[in-house]
Amino acid sequence: MRVRKRKNGDARRAACADLIIPVDKENLSEIPLSEIYPEHKSFRIEIGCGKGAFITGMAAREPDIAFFAVERVGDVIVVAAEKTKAAELHNVRFLNCDAAWLPSLFPAHCFDRIYLNFSDPWPKDRHAKRRLTYRKMLELFAGLLTPDGRIEFKTDNRPLFDFSLEEFRAAGYTLENVTYDLHASEWAENNIVTEYEANFSAKGFKINRLEAFLAK
Ligand SMILES: C[S@@+](CC[C@H](N)C(=O)[O-])C[C@H]1O[C@@H](n2cnc3c(N)ncnc32)[C@H](O)[C@@H]1O
Repeated sequence: MRVRKRKNGDARRAACADLIIPVDKENLSEIPLSEIYPEHKSFRIEIGCGKGAFITGMAAREPDIAFFAVERVGDVIVVAAEKTKAAELHNVRFLNCDAAWLPSLFPAHCFDRIYLNFSDPWPKDRHAKRRLTYRKMLELFAGLLTPDGRIEFKTDNRPLFDFSLEEFRAAGYTLENVTYDLHASEWAENNIVTEYEANFSAKGFKINRLEAFLAK
């Protein structure tokens, strides 16, 4: 996501510091889930949260679930954290880091949902390995899912979706609840619309969605 350098960036980040877990790239260490969320038993994560409409909506709907949101662009994550603060939610924490670092930051098999919303498509074939739904990345995510866990993925980008269907299968996942038109489907009612989703569906793009899980 491209963003202009934001005014008062440091002050705004400091105002949300309680929601943004510091990550030291040179010394990654496991996040103590029970210290951050002593009351919660169920954990979910969104990867590439952008400006946070989805995670904020989801956390408001599910107060008994503890959420994390990962975003590698620092200025963007501040916007997302501000949204969470304004909504007075206490069940979201943000990490300004790359998805590839997650196995060093979280215990194995701790998330019952991983949300991938409108992941960057990296349209050139030679960049396929950078996609969050590239099979190696999906294998990495498998190590973070609980035995009943699921990945929920949605995108307007049909070539990325078709690529992802194959990659999920290649990484050993079973697919369920696949739709090529989320907003006209039975999953529309409970759908929480992301910033990109609002933008692309307003332009007439259909939204593709799937759920993926691993056989026990
Ligand atoms: C196209 S935007 C979608 C944002 C939001 N999910 C939405 O639907 O409005 C994709 C976001 O994922 C982030 N992102 C892409 N690859 C990532 C990675 N490997 N680790 C963390 N964040 C990533 C980008 O910085 C960008 O903000």
